[in-house]
Amino acid sequence: MRKILVTGGAGFIGSAVVRHIIEDTKDSVVVVDKLTYAGNLDSLSDVADNERYAFEQVDICNRSTLDEVFAKHQPDFVMHLAAESHVDRSIDGPSAFIETNIIGTYTLLEAARHYWMALDTVRKQAFRFHHISTDEVYGDLHGTDDLFTETTPYAPSSPYSASKASSDHLVRAWLRTYGFPTIVTNCSNNYGPYHFPEKLIPLMILNALEGKPLPVYGNGAQIRDWLFVEDHAKALYKVVTEGVIGETYNIGGHNERKNIEVVHTICQLLEELAPSKPAGVAKYEDLITYVTDRPGHDMRYAIDAGKIERELGWKPQETFESGMRKTVSWYLANQVWWQRVLDGSYARERIGLKSSL
Ligand SMILES: NC(=O)c1ccc[n+]([C@@H]2O[C@H](COP(=O)([O-])OP(=O)(O)OC[C@H]3O[C@@H](n4cnc5c(N)ncnc54)[C@H](O)[C@@H]3O)[C@@H](O)[C@H]2O)c1
Repeated sequence: MRKILVTGGAGFIGSAVVRHIIEDTKDSVVVVDKLTYAGNLDSLSDVADNERYAFEQVDICNRSTLDEVFAKHQPDFVMHLAAESHVDRSIDGPSAFIETNIIGTYTLLEAARHYWMALDTVRKQAFRFHHISTDEVYGDLHGTDDLFTETTPYAPSSPYSASKASSDHLVRAWLRTYGFPTIVTNCSNNYGPYHFPEKLIPLMILNALEGKPLPVYGNGAQIRDWLFVEDHAKALYKVVTEGVIGETYNIGGHNERKNIEVVHTICQLLEELAPSKPAGVAKYEDLITYVTDRPGHDMRYAIDAGKIERELGWKPQETFESGMRKTVSWYLANQVWWQRVLDGSYARERIGLKSSL
């Protein structure tokens, strides 16, 4: 049985990774999470009582506390997902993105490297540091057929993607300079259960249910390659357990959709699954409202996920249609989860929560 240290494990993708490891494998997990606004312990309630699960409330910028976590938990692998992740927030206030995504990744790399150097030979050889990144580091595509591959040059557009690109470079430098055993993955847009309602898909679902406008940036023609979050979690576990040191794997869903198509899909699913609408709403689609585009908005992202399929045998199990149906159904069945996010109680209750360190 291995122990995996998952940073950002209370976030959207991190919590899916933790649920997958606890529910579908024999490995154990220690979550390291600062619990920013995006960290939600409610997303981990299904696994919180499991004896293979532990939680430490820690900021990855805090080196001395990270050293204590490594000494106490003795992990075999690190999966690094902690980040500031919302592009709009990075435009309004880039500082937290520089702190966590760049300084935090540097601090974590150094804590992990010093821990790794002191391991015995067998554990040292088996150790992996898996850095989870985004396809946004590649910038955007303007053609209709070209795809991001693992060798596409970096050309980030937003403070978010620039900070993630910086962290990817740090991770590669730690491999090359120190021989530290790193692997990087770059993934396309995720969607699914437990997604914080500032992101496109949950925002549209919840606004529609409340009869509020559905704000679509620009003309809604921006294209994203959508991946169901549980497929991503399985890919990440495969990479950390079977991936090759020094390699990069792109992960995508082969599901390119215009933003406006995504919003129409949500409206159609809601017509079927939640037909009794808020007062004054005839059709969910009537709520669609076009708003001023985001500055520097990337036009199209699309991933060539052939390498991870060929080399590690991973393929997404959900189509866009099946994943969206699961997602909309989940939000309809889990009103308590999102009400506690909307009214802030998910965050108020954890004030005073302390790490066991
Ligand atoms: N969401 C996507 O579509 C997507 C796609 C590709 C890659 N990614 C990457 O995957 C990772 C996870 O994304 P997500 O959507 O789950 O993000 P998220 O915003 O939902 O979660 C981030 C988590 O990190 C924690 N965190 C933030 N700053 C921290 C700090 N200084 N110390 C410790 N913990 C901290 C937060 O509390 C939260 O639990 C990120 O690195 C992101 O760049 C996301």
